[in-house]
Parts: sequence; structure tokens; C-alpha cells
Amino acid sequence: MKITHCQTNHLNNPVGFRMDAGPVFHWTVEGARGTRQESTRVVVRELAQLATSGEVVADTGFANLDSLACPVGVPLKPRTRYAWTVTVKTNAGEMVTSDENFFETGKMDEPWQAEWVTTDKEPLDLDVFDRGAAERHPVFSKKICLKNPQIAYARLYITGLGLYEAFIDGKRIGDEYLTPYCNNYDAWVQYQTYDVTKLLTEAIRHGTPALSVLLGNGWYKGRFGFMEDPTPVYGSEWKLLAELRVTYTDGTEEVIGTDESWEVTRSNIIFSNIYDGEWRDDTLSRIISVPVHARKTNPPQGRLSDRLSPPVRKMAELHPVQLIHTPKGELVLDLGQNQAGIWKLHVHGVKYGGRVHVQVGEVLQQGNFYRDNLRDARAEYWYTSDGTDRDIEPHFTFYGYRYVKIEGMPDLKSDDFTAYALWSDMDAIGSLETGNPKINRLLANAEWGKRSNFIDVPTDCPQRNERMGWTGDAEVFSPTALTQSDAYAFYTKYLYDMVTEQRSLGGMVPNVVPSFHMTETDDAAWDGALAACAWGDATTIIPWNVYAFTGDKTILAAHFPAMKAWCGWLTARDADGLRWMKQYHYGDWLALDGPGGVDAVDGGTDTGYCAEVYLLYSLRITAETAKLLGYAQEAASLETQAGKILDRIRHYYFTPSGRCAVDTQTAYLLALRHGLSTDPAQMKEGLIKKLHANGDKLQTGFIGTPLLCEILTEIDRSDLAYHLLFNEAYPGWLYEVNLGATTIWERWNSLLPDGTVSSTGMNSYNHYSYGAIATWIYERAAGLRRDPSVPGFRKVLFTPLPDARLGYAHAVYDSAAGKWECGWELTPEDAAASMVDTQSALHGIPDTGADKRKYKLHVYLTVPFGAEADVTLPDAPESVYEDSSNPLFASVDMNESSSNGEKICHVGPGRYEVSYELHMV
Ligand code: BGC
Repeated sequence: MKITHCQTNHLNNPVGFRMDAGPVFHWTVEGARGTRQESTRVVVRELAQLATSGEVVADTGFANLDSLACPVGVPLKPRTRYAWTVTVKTNAGEMVTSDENFFETGKMDEPWQAEWVTTDKEPLDLDVFDRGAAERHPVFSKKICLKNPQIAYARLYITGLGLYEAFIDGKRIGDEYLTPYCNNYDAWVQYQTYDVTKLLTEAIRHGTPALSVLLGNGWYKGRFGFMEDPTPVYGSEWKLLAELRVTYTDGTEEVIGTDESWEVTRSNIIFSNIYDGEWRDDTLSRIISVPVHARKTNPPQGRLSDRLSPPVRKMAELHPVQLIHTPKGELVLDLGQNQAGIWKLHVHGVKYGGRVHVQVGEVLQQGNFYRDNLRDARAEYWYTSDGTDRDIEPHFTFYGYRYVKIEGMPDLKSDDFTAYALWSDMDAIGSLETGNPKINRLLANAEWGKRSNFIDVPTDCPQRNERMGWTGDAEVFSPTALTQSDAYAFYTKYLYDMVTEQRSLGGMVPNVVPSFHMTETDDAAWDGALAACAWGDATTIIPWNVYAFTGDKTILAAHFPAMKAWCGWLTARDADGLRWMKQYHYGDWLALDGPGGVDAVDGGTDTGYCAEVYLLYSLRITAETAKLLGYAQEAASLETQAGKILDRIRHYYFTPSGRCAVDTQTAYLLALRHGLSTDPAQMKEGLIKKLHANGDKLQTGFIGTPLLCEILTEIDRSDLAYHLLFNEAYPGWLYEVNLGATTIWERWNSLLPDGTVSSTGMNSYNHYSYGAIATWIYERAAGLRRDPSVPGFRKVLFTPLPDARLGYAHAVYDSAAGKWECGWELTPEDAAASMVDTQSALHGIPDTGADKRKYKLHVYLTVPFGAEADVTLPDAPESVYEDSSNPLFASVDMNESSSNGEKICHVGPGRYEVSYELHMV
């Protein structure tokens, strides 16, 4: 038996993170004979001066502790490391103590022994920049003359605006990129904490080390937002704050903070911003940058805060799979994978003053380089060489791309280029493989969609002039992200930004978070769509999903006031709901049934209806949250409000007999999902009719698509769900796979069947929303569906859906409760079966009962320690259950059955499997 996945606030041994609600611990148990915790003890010690042992500051004693979320009251001190262990006794009498874990606090609210410093602007007179001023980016530095060479440990607390990178003697500190990340800078600015003990100790061996910090523009002071306006959004001044703390082996401490003794020189980076890329001119090295003293300046408007952002790191390295000489004569590298991040280019053979130009794109057109869908984001890099061969790498930007066009390097080789995909470092916890390569590609596309769009903020896309935290996109994809990754900490940061925005907007949730000032607080907001249904409701839905997947209510407790504020903003100012119903909403964004046809953005589902349904959903979630947090009165009042909204929905959008007045696929999906009609049978019928009328093809957009297959399974039409999934023609998920997609597209027809780009106005090849289908494949196809009434994956309702076109499905999910593993495999039992099945499968022939073939079905499931599952075996004959030697059937109630008539096997921790014969199409 061992204890694994020990985390503090859902982070692995965090250093310098903000802990408003104190530490909350989490762990899992593996390899135990016992099935559950009998009693558990957490002990926390304070490691004064980072000593290896220390005084106990909290001890829960053996008690009934929740491994999903165990808050322990620890009186936290700034800049202090705490060690913690957990000891678990199981019901089989085992007792094991975890390895020692730690967390280290940041400066918390203590004052800084450093001053904010800046330097004057030094604009360069260059003609090429209509995107913001060209200026040699400053480097602030300080020689570190230490009193004593015996360093015990050293920490650097630092932030810089817009972005910063710090170095000791030219060696990069830490492995994070784009720090201090993308916040609502009006409200808060994060700083980071780095352990610099090793770097500093090494550096002092060679003399007096220099601590230097390079600044870039980033989100704070670069052009950002769809407007072409180059005016910086949050501030225009370079700003730096740093405090180096060195503790010597004799226990004494030395603090070196930024002040006017720091010097500023100029780097060769002359331009940077997130959308347009970066420019570096190495011929500038000939112009000696005379050091000037840093100047004291005012702090930024936002409050300085311990960090919340998980680190953005180089998470994958990709190499070109091909060097293409295009018909137009361009040199283009193909990475074989659309993704987002930075790169390294080995520049060689370029003369002094020669320019290398790097541009990126997502698709080729007629074999040529193409980037018009990036709109006005230049997404490029200019390098002016000093004639020396060297590696170059961007510092203060990122790119969303698969193809790279390089000019100015005629001897370019594939090996010259290495791509580094960046994303917020989260543990990958879900993996799923099937026997169908196209579905596997689709799953990989959904995974890459998340990776590329999880660079500190959940963004819509990583390439064009948006890359913003669109709330609607984040909301619809959140269950999938939580299936793929341990995203709790990532969402904690995003939701904190949301809180700060809501605070200044009277509860309104802006459409993008951080908002980058694309909001207004006056009443115009009501008509100007500065908030929208399904987008703003991210403030209730995301924390709820995070809780449902992890079982940790800390996120609900922190976000509850914002959830209420949103519901209050929606209801208090608009008693009859008509203004909200009538204003512009994105609604079922990009659905194919809108009045403007398939290339328009507005779907056909009445947006007033969507607005009302989402209001109901938000009220219900908020009521449920109030109940969980013990606010019974508030819960009751929210439930009453929800009841009134349901009545209002029925009044406006349903006939007294329960028929829905909005006749679209998405309208029926919403009605079924939220129990809107008094006659659900009519809704099922309406949905099926609607699909049939459209040739069994989907028409759904952002709102309907994530629900589509799920609801079909709920109404016992998984055959149709599979039919939609396997549709290889437009519109469908495999249509894009067939056209070579390596990420999820924004539109169902982002490319036309002949491979041409359908439109340039709004067309990204890396938009994760429709990747939400991955959740259905995990939960329904593979069967790994969490019981919605039991948070944190402590219980799974394992009801796999074998299908010959998939062949097998194998899912592993390292859930908050422990590691689940499950799947199934179909083996044809007669020679003809495989041929006939592929045929019928390709044509998506629904199960008519005819032409059934014989298969052997093997089903398996591993239930982790402390968890349980209800297993329903598809079409298992009665005789299967008679095998009393199989532990799967140890507790099956022969009188009980699931909604589709199958027996239910109740099982606890352990491995289960069974094989039986099955006849299916
Ligand atoms: C974004 C979307 C977003 C939408 C709002 C687009 O430009 O890319 O994904 O949700 O605007 O409707």
C-alpha cells in the first residue's frame, strides 16, 4: 500500500502560492488490501529556516478526514516552508504514512524591502511599427555582493510589467514563460517566487554575480484586444519589483531589493507583443548601451499578490516532419501538429545586417503558406543578424501554428527549427484509446486543443487577434478539460480573475476574462451584449464542474459570492426578464440552423430561450451550492427564484401541453437537459424528428453540441449518438479529421471539402469548444461516467457502449478519488462478421435488429480504493450473472434493473472483468 498524489491546494509541493483559505490537502491510496480509510491523520510541521525537521503546527490526530479535500488550520507565516505527511489506516488494519510533502508560503501581505523601479522610454525611430512603439527592451541589473559565501538558501520574489525574464549571470531563473501571466491587472498583479539557491551558489564561485531582468510588453502594456488600436490596455510604463533574500548557514539573512542603485541597459529586442510577435536586431550590439540608473516609480494600480497561476512551461518539443518548397517558392516547415508556443531557430549563414523573417500559419492553401485567418495578428519574428551563427528564441510572445515560413535563410534545414509547445503545467490525468484510428485522432485533437488554449487563461484560440478568455468557450469545454487534466488550480486562477471583474461590474460577467477593458458598467451593457447568456454563466458552471470532478468545495466557497452576484445582476435589474431575453446573445453560436446560413455566426435557437434556460441553470447551481455550504435560507430563496424562471420559460416558450415553441435540435436538448417540458416524451420525439429531418446530421453550435450525444444516450438513442460521431461528411467531427485536422476547428466547415478555407473573418483551426465530444467518448462510449450525485469520482456508473466501429475502448483516469481503469473489447466470433460490420458501420446503419453478428465482448473495470461503481453490462444474457465465482456478481440484485432493463452490479474497490457473447450490428 502506498499514498500517492499528495497535493496542497491541488498543486504539487507549491512554492509562493496564494492561500486565502489556508492549505487544503489531498491524497490517494494505492495497492491496499483494505477498501477504505478507517481513520487518517495529517501532521504539519513548520520548517524554520528550511530545516529538515521542525515544530508541529497542526496535527489532526486520527480522525475521519476526507482525502478529496482536507482543510487543516495552519497559522501561516510568510516565506515559510511547511512539511506535511498523511497517515492512513485502512479497514484491513494496514497503516502507511506518506512521504513528506511540502508547501512554502510567499510574502503574503508582508511589506517588501524593495521599491518599484522603472526607466524612461527610449523610442526607436523605425518605420515598421504601427502596432506600438519600437523600443530596445530594458534590462535592469544589479551586482550581488554577498557578505558571506555560505548560502543556506536563497529566494527571489519578483514581478515585472508587462512581462519579465530574470537571470543570474545570464542563466535563466526558473523554467516559466510569460510571467507574471495574464491577469485583470487593474485589480491584481502576481509575483513569483523562485528558489535560486543553486544558481547563486554556483555563480558566487566565479566572482560577483549579476542579477538581471529583461522586460517585455505582454498583456499589460502591449497591443491586445480585437481593435487595431496599439494603445496598451493596462499601463504604459516598464515596471519592476524584486526582492532577493539570501539566508546564510549561520542563520543570518541578507535582502537585496530593487531600488535606484539598479542599472538599466538596453537589449537587442526592439519590439514585442502577444499578437504581432517579436523583433530582435543584433546589429544594435555595436551601439553601446550606456547604463543609467533605475528610477523609483509608483506601484501599478492592481494589488500585488502571491501567485495563483500554475507555471506555464515548455511542455513538449516538436520537430519539423517536412521542409516544403511551396509552389510559390517559399520555404515552409511542417510540424505535423497544430499547437501553440515558442520555438528555437538556429540562424546560420546570414550576413551582417541580413534579416530573417519567421511567420506562422495553421493550414496551407494550394500547397502554399497561408495566414489570412490570423486576421490582423502578425504572428511573426524579425531577426537582424550581426553575422554570427546563433540560436534565437522569442521571449515575450507565443504563436498558434503548424506551419512556419522562414525567409532570409536560404540554407534552411529542418533541424534548424525546434518548436516548444507551451501550456500551463497540470498533471495529465485522463487517457483514452479506441480501436478506431480516426476517433483516436479526434481525441488527440481535443487534447491538443486544450493544450494550445491553456496558456494561463482558457482561451478561444491561440493564433489570431483574440486569444482571450472567452467565458462561453471556457464553460462548454470545462468538463472535458477536467477529464484530461488536473485543472483545479488553473481554474482557480481564472475564476479569481472573474471575481475581480464582477466586483467592478456590479456582478456582471464580461464576455472575456480578463476583460481587457472591453466592458462598460452603465445600462448600455444591457443592449450592447457586453454580457451574454451561457458565456456569463461560466461564473456558476465552471466552479460547479470543478467541484463535481474533484469533490473539493473550496472553489465553491470562494466563488459563491460571485455566483450570487451574477444571479442578482440578472434578476434584480430586470424583474420580467424581457430585457435580458431581448438583448443580443451569442446563443447557440456557430450553429448551422441560423437565418444567415452556415457561414453566419448566429444559430437558429431563439436566444431569449437560451438566456432564460441558462438563468435557470445558474440559479439551480447557485442554490445547490448554497445548500452544500450550509446557507439553507439562501438556498431556499434561490430555489424559489428558479421555480419562477421555470414557470416563465414555460409561459413564453412552451404550450400548455408541453410542446416547445422553439423547434431546433438545441432547443430540445436544453429542454431535456433541464427538465423544461411537462411532457419529456414530446421533447425526445421532437429531437429525433429534428435530427431525421436533417438527414440525421447535427446542426448544433456552442450550446447544443456538448449536449448532443449525451442527451441521445440519456434517451436511449446511443445508436444515433454513434451515428453522429462516425459521420465522416460535413458536418461532423470526423469530417475535419479526414481533412487532416490535428486540433479542433472553430467551425464545422472551417475547411471546405476541397481543402480551401471557408472564410477568413472568423475561422480558427484551434478552437477547443467542439472537442467537448471527448467527454462523451470517455463517459459513455468507454463507460467511465461519474455518478452525478457523488462528487470527486468516488462513484462511477459504468455502462459501456460497445460498438463494432470502435472495436475497443480503454480509459484510464487518475481521478481525485484514485485511479480508474476501464474498457471493453469486441472480438468477432465468425469470419463474416468483421467484413459486414465495417460495411454497415461506414454507412452508419442504425440498429434495426437485422443482420446481427456474433461477438465476444470483454468488459473490465478497476475501482480505486475508497470508491465504488454500479456496473451495467450491455445486453448480457441472464446466464452471465449466474457465475458466482466472479466477484463482479457478488452483489447484484436480480430484482433491480437500470432504465434500459439491465441488471446492476454494485462493486467496491478491485479489478473486475467478464466476457460473454453478444449479438449486435
Ligand atoms: C471567439 C469565440 C467566442 C465568440 C463570442 C469569437 O470571436 O473566438 O470563440 O466565444 O467570439 O461569440
